[in-house]
Order: sequence, then structure tokens, then C-alpha cells
Amino acid sequence: MTPPVTAVPMFDLGRAARRIDEELRRRWDRLLEQTAFVGGDEVSEFERAFADSQTVESCVAVANGTDALTLALRALGVGPGDEVIVPAFSFIATAEAVSLVGATPVFADVDFESLNLDLKDAASKLSSRSVGIIGVHLYGSPFDIDEALSLCRERGLWLVEDAAQAHGAQWRGRAVGGFGRMATWSFYPSKNLGCFGDGGAVTTNEPELAERVRRLANHGVTGRYHHAVVGTNSRLDALQAAVLNCRLPRLAADNARRGRIAERYRRYLAEVPEVVALPEGQNSVSAWHQFTVLSPRRDALQAFLAQRGIGSATHYPEPLHRQPAFADLGEPPLLPVAERAAAEVLCLPMFAELTDPEVERVGQALLAFAG
Ligand SMILES: Cc1ncc(COP(=O)(O)O)c(C=O)c1O
Repeated sequence: MTPPVTAVPMFDLGRAARRIDEELRRRWDRLLEQTAFVGGDEVSEFERAFADSQTVESCVAVANGTDALTLALRALGVGPGDEVIVPAFSFIATAEAVSLVGATPVFADVDFESLNLDLKDAASKLSSRSVGIIGVHLYGSPFDIDEALSLCRERGLWLVEDAAQAHGAQWRGRAVGGFGRMATWSFYPSKNLGCFGDGGAVTTNEPELAERVRRLANHGVTGRYHHAVVGTNSRLDALQAAVLNCRLPRLAADNARRGRIAERYRRYLAEVPEVVALPEGQNSVSAWHQFTVLSPRRDALQAFLAQRGIGSATHYPEPLHRQPAFADLGEPPLLPVAERAAAEVLCLPMFAELTDPEVERVGQALLAFAG
């Protein structure tokens, strides 16, 4: 069946682009005049503004969120023989980065309510080779930072926050991204703070770590054509920084709008018992990167919405510990919550420019699904 023309998209980058059109053109004209396309003023302006917005000391802009993770791990000295705990339910980059630096990702289950890292399960997976934990603020909702920090302190581990989905989220009234030794960010176009290509960043309150990331991301350079370590090329280009400079001042208002959309979805869902929204965290404010529901009839729900022209997405249909990419790690562990999540999650349309009639339309479709 052809979807109706007045479809509600899962995401519409065009609407976000139109809002910054004028300012972006001004910034682009200036870049053309300066012919400064990699690094330069736009990038430094963004690094300062983003660090301030997350109340952290340093921000190093890099080429994407996967590089941000990999560079953070390298800066922490992670390598072969080390084990790093990662949640089994995340985007693959969280675990991929561990493998990319030659260490071993150890998958822990996620918590039944939040679908964020289950820190009790994480504790049970620690060994003498464990060096740290990567927590993911999944869907923009912070994991339990108090519990993670206390486990890390107790066991002498570092904590890295994978904040790729959590721009503007808060834990106990403070922006995420400054709690772990480092935090990593993605500015992929569909993120709350997205550019028009690939982009990423590492934030930290430790200047020495920031310096190491900056060096590694620029070929390990320490002087003109002098390279102290083997690094890589992972720099943010100026056009992407210009997009981010246009969008960052709008982030707080955009997240607030996402929060209001979430509230409206919740009101509809109160009347749809078989579709359950993930609960809001008690000590946190979500960035509402996604609005995620669980349903044992997830595939039927997705098809039902699609027939009504409503987009939705399954983030993620396969848990990480069952990905063929990690087959060499041996028999996958039993992680029942991650497996259930992969079978039941569905993300509804969520972006700041969604209109009230569109939200209403999604809500009515959810009620119709309930019959
Ligand atoms: C949780 C998480 N970590 C890491 C990444 C990787 O970011 P990028 O796609 O910019 O490499 C993503 C991107 O979707 C993500 O969602």
C-alpha cells in the first residue's frame, strides 16, 4: 500500500536546514573568502562554545563519533590485552572502538527499565584485565552516573561517557559529558546537534587528555612535519563547524520542544496498554534524542504506522553481543534484557520541527492500534 502523502517522517533534516539557511550562508561566504576549510576560526569557535554548553574544560572536535571513541580510548592508553565493559544494547560504534584499538569489548546487559547499562551486570563481568567502562546515554537519557562512578572508583577503572545521543541531557542538574574522564559525541545529521555531514568531538576536564586527543587526531604531530606518535587524520572541517555554530544556540529550545512532544506521546500511550514508553529517569533530564516504546507486537505496530504514512525506526534490531562482527569473541553471553529490547523497541518520530498536527496524527494512530 502506498503511504498517504501527508506522511509523518521519522526525521526531516530539510526543516532543520531551512531554519539556519541565512546564517549558514553568511558563515559559508566568510569561509570562501578566508579559504579556511579544515580547522580555523569556525572550529575553534565551536570547540569553545560546545565545551561551555556542556560545562567542561576542553572540547576537541574530530571527524565523527566513532573516531571520538577510538581517540579517547587511545588517549587513555587502552590497547591489546585490555578489557572494556560496554552495554550490549547500543550502536555498534561503542564496541567497535574498543576492538579498533586492539582491546576486547566485554558485553554487559542493560537495565530493564532504562535500557541503559546494568551496572550490577557490569560489575559481575569485571576481570583483572578490565580497565574501564563505556556507558552510553542511550536515546538521550543518561545512564546512572552515580552508580557508574562509584563502581569505577571502587575497582580503579575509568569511565567514558558515550554521549553521541545526549547533547544537552542532564544528570542531577548538570550537563552530561563532564562526569567521566572523557565523553565522546557524534554530530551525525540526525543527532540533536547534527551537522550536514560527519562530525564528532571529545570533551574532558583533563587538559592533558584533551591535548593527547588533539595530537592523535592530527597525525601525532608535535612540530612541523614532526610526529611524536602514530596518529590519524580525524579533523572537523570548517563547514561542519559552521553548521554546528548555527545550531548550538538553538539546542536547549529544541530539546525542550522534544520534551513537550514526548509528553504528548505519553498521554496517548496511557490509553494503549500494550505499547509502553520507556520511563523518564528520576535524576536526569533526557535530551529526547529518541522517543522509544516497547511492544511485544513491535513489527505489527511498525507496519500499522507505516500504512498510515508514519515513520518509525528500530534502534536496534540486533544486540551487539550477537553481531557477526564480534563472532571471534566466542560464544555470545546470555543477556536477556538486551535481547528482549532488540525484539521490542520502536522509536517514534522525534525532532524539534515536528508540528502539533503531526504529533496528534501519531497519537491517533497509536490509539487506533490499541483498537
Ligand atoms: C551511541 C553511539 N555511539 C557512537 C556513534 C558513532 O558516531 P558516528 O556515526 O558519528 O561515527 C553513534 C552514532 O550513531 C551512536 O549512536
